[in-house]
Amino acid sequence: MHKFLWNFAELLPIVLLYYNALTAAQTDNRPNIVIILADDLGVDDVSFRGSNQFLTPNIDALAYSGVILQNLYTPDMCSPSRSALLTGKYPIHTGMQHYVIPNYEPWGLPLNETTMAQIFKQHGYYTSIIGKWHQGMSRKAYTPTRRGFDQHFGYLGAYVDYYAQTLDATYKNLSRGHDFRDNLAVSREYIGTYVTDLLTEAATKVISKHDAHKQPLFLLLSQLAPHTGDEDDPLQAPPEEVEKFAYIKDAQRRTYAAMVSKLDQSVASVIDALAQKGILNNTILIFLSDNGGPTIGLHATTASNYPLRGQKSSPWEGGIRSSGAIWSPLLEHLGTVWKQHFYIGDLLPTLAAAANIPLDSQQMKLDGLNLWSALKYGYNSVEREIVHNIDQISNYISYGKGKWKLINGTTYDGIYDDWIGTRSNESNDELDPRAAHYEEVIMNTTVWQHLAEINAKGGALAPRTINITKLREDAAINCQLANASHGVACDPLVAPCLFDIDVDPCEQNNLYPAMNGSKLVQELLKRVAHFCETAHAPNNKPLDPNSDPQLYDGEWTWWEDVQDGVDENGSGNDGAKMAEVVSVAFIWTCTFVLFIF
Ligand SMILES: *[C@@H]1O[C@H](CO)[C@@H](O)[C@H](O)[C@H]1NC(C)=O
Ligand SMILES: *[C@@H]1O[C@H](CO)[C@@H](O)[C@H](O)[C@H]1NC(C)=O
Ligand SMILES: *[C@@H]1O[C@H](CO)[C@@H](O)[C@H](O)[C@H]1NC(C)=O
Ligand SMILES: *[C@@H]1O[C@H](CO)[C@@H](O)[C@H](O)[C@H]1NC(C)=O
Ligand SMILES: *[C@@H]1O[C@H](CO)[C@@H](O)[C@H](O)[C@H]1NC(C)=O
Ligand SMILES: *[C@@H]1O[C@H](CO)[C@@H](O)[C@H](O)[C@H]1NC(C)=O
Ligand SMILES: *[C@@H]1O[C@H](CO)[C@@H](O)[C@H](O)[C@H]1NC(C)=O
Ligand SMILES: *[C@@H]1O[C@H](CO)[C@@H](O)[C@H](O)[C@H]1NC(C)=O
Ligand SMILES: *[C@@H]1O[C@H](CO)[C@@H](O)[C@H](O)[C@H]1NC(C)=O
Ligand SMILES: *[C@@H]1O[C@H](CO)[C@@H](O)[C@H](O)[C@H]1NC(C)=O
Repeated sequence: MHKFLWNFAELLPIVLLYYNALTAAQTDNRPNIVIILADDLGVDDVSFRGSNQFLTPNIDALAYSGVILQNLYTPDMCSPSRSALLTGKYPIHTGMQHYVIPNYEPWGLPLNETTMAQIFKQHGYYTSIIGKWHQGMSRKAYTPTRRGFDQHFGYLGAYVDYYAQTLDATYKNLSRGHDFRDNLAVSREYIGTYVTDLLTEAATKVISKHDAHKQPLFLLLSQLAPHTGDEDDPLQAPPEEVEKFAYIKDAQRRTYAAMVSKLDQSVASVIDALAQKGILNNTILIFLSDNGGPTIGLHATTASNYPLRGQKSSPWEGGIRSSGAIWSPLLEHLGTVWKQHFYIGDLLPTLAAAANIPLDSQQMKLDGLNLWSALKYGYNSVEREIVHNIDQISNYISYGKGKWKLINGTTYDGIYDDWIGTRSNESNDELDPRAAHYEEVIMNTTVWQHLAEINAKGGALAPRTINITKLREDAAINCQLANASHGVACDPLVAPCLFDIDVDPCEQNNLYPAMNGSKLVQELLKRVAHFCETAHAPNNKPLDPNSDPQLYDGEWTWWEDVQDGVDENGSGNDGAKMAEVVSVAFIWTCTFVLFIF
């Protein structure tokens, strides 16, 4: 005993020193933010909406434990959607509204725009993006570590092959190029590793390595899944994963199910890593898709937006509704479905508010709204106006104000305008065998268990019981009519269409003919005309043959810098001669919105 005391006394000064050092070091209690962004996931490709064809137990567990974002809206394509997430602005206000940035076009998110990563970094966060960027790469200045991210591990372009990490542009007379980097350095050592797993592992490594008590973490895990891989082999998943879905007869759908399953597992791995690090209880978790799923056409995956109309790259709900959820112990109504219309661009000011970051939304000209308080206390705060798109090149508008939605014109001559998505054949034995014990499967996930443990510590605020069956019913999307042909038809190439989205989410019943000339329609058209005037010209530029990967050792790189001699091989200096990006490639006007009054 005596010896022990003596030893302790001897150690005491050291213990005190250590203690002082600990308390002197700054601790930062602001919440970590982890966003998991899926690419092209259909609204019905998660099982919390009711589908039993293949389950997504981890995403569902997150959704039921948190708040389901029932009416989460995004732009209808990748680059516009990601620009809205990062800037808190409509793509029409940054020139990102038309199509996406193909790897071979020399443009990007304008350099004078401030990204969410810059804001969080300025306010002391460690900012990391793992995975897809797709906001420009023709100059190094466009790339993520020049746009506010401390770290990027992933690819710069539109998509890559799940194993080879290449994108083939031979259809444009360019070559196939590799696109995968660790920060700015080309990284070929991961060729052959399935990208979903690779990105998941990188994200969990960031979580386990970073000391979030000293510096809060802002992590955007921007998965490739379940977007198509490279065109010659668009649907790719590890054979052992595909085998789990052998009951799905359609081979493409079977592989797609495996791709989504890998994405679902990624969600569990990230949450496990946060729990293991002891920081899950101080984290805001968000899961969402960048846009609707492509069932047919370009980059088709068999994705399903059932029962919604349209799909990715279209003005309909199937293109712009995202199946998303958010969880944080800061939220007071966990285990609920939040019906507020919510825009992806609202995340910037909303998360900034959650992190106590002051923003001057007006000065920043944000279109996104800070809905943190409404989300935290679980009420519907505004009749959200959302400019889904005004595309002067494709010549269409899609606009919402509260329950009203106006569409005029459409994309691709209307080939995506039908009810394309279906729900798997429950009559056909194509059921996930796990669906028989659905609730138990959800509650058996580590996601459910970790979140339940923290939810239970919320004291009076803790959800008493979470009724999974009830939440699943509430998150289902129900059409107004059993048969769309019983509604008033809409052909937006002929005349504008108007829908009451709250009762008619499937856009089956066109109210425009009945409301034509009404005060409501006039007001909606006036708002559209206003936004048309404030729109920035689209940034799109023609293909630049100098982008060809074969000129750069088979790599997609910041070719404009290399061509200008600013950067010899894409790993040199900072691209000091920053690009002046003033795009006047398209002269456009607002004349396509005519006034009828
Ligand atoms: C960026 O510059 C463009 C002109 O090229 C301008 O329209 C836009 O408002 C600017 N954005 C900001 C945030 O200043
Ligand atoms: C590719 O090159 C061939 C032969 O020069 C030409 O006929 C074709 O139009 C080119 N295609 C594209 C997309 O540029
Ligand atoms: C999170 O849990 C750790 C211990 O596991 C505890 O020390 C810490 O105070 C908790 N933080 C919050 C915000 O509840
Ligand atoms: C459902 O089954 C029918 C009959 O086998 C088939 O024609 C249809 O394509 C199936 N639908 C889906 C979504 O698999
Ligand atoms: C849930 O986990 C328990 C305990 O590991 C196991 O016995 C049970 O079979 C699991 N249920 C399902 C549906 O997987
Ligand atoms: C859960 O909700 C379902 C559907 O609304 C209901 O039938 C069931 O009784 C509820 N279960 C509990 C335990 O409240
Ligand atoms: C919907 O109604 C149309 C016309 O009445 C009919 O041809 C079609 O078979 C119906 N579809 C379904 C799914 O009932
Ligand atoms: C709306 O009313 C105007 C003027 O009366 C008419 O020219 C137009 O055809 C109507 N449009 C539709 C879709 O009913
Ligand atoms: C070119 O790449 C090599 C290897 O990564 C690097 O050592 C060298 O500094 C680079 N040169 C320039 C000018 O960036
Ligand atoms: C709808 O778009 C068409 C085609 O661009 C245009 O001619 C028409 O004026 C628009 N309708 C309204 C009401 O803005």
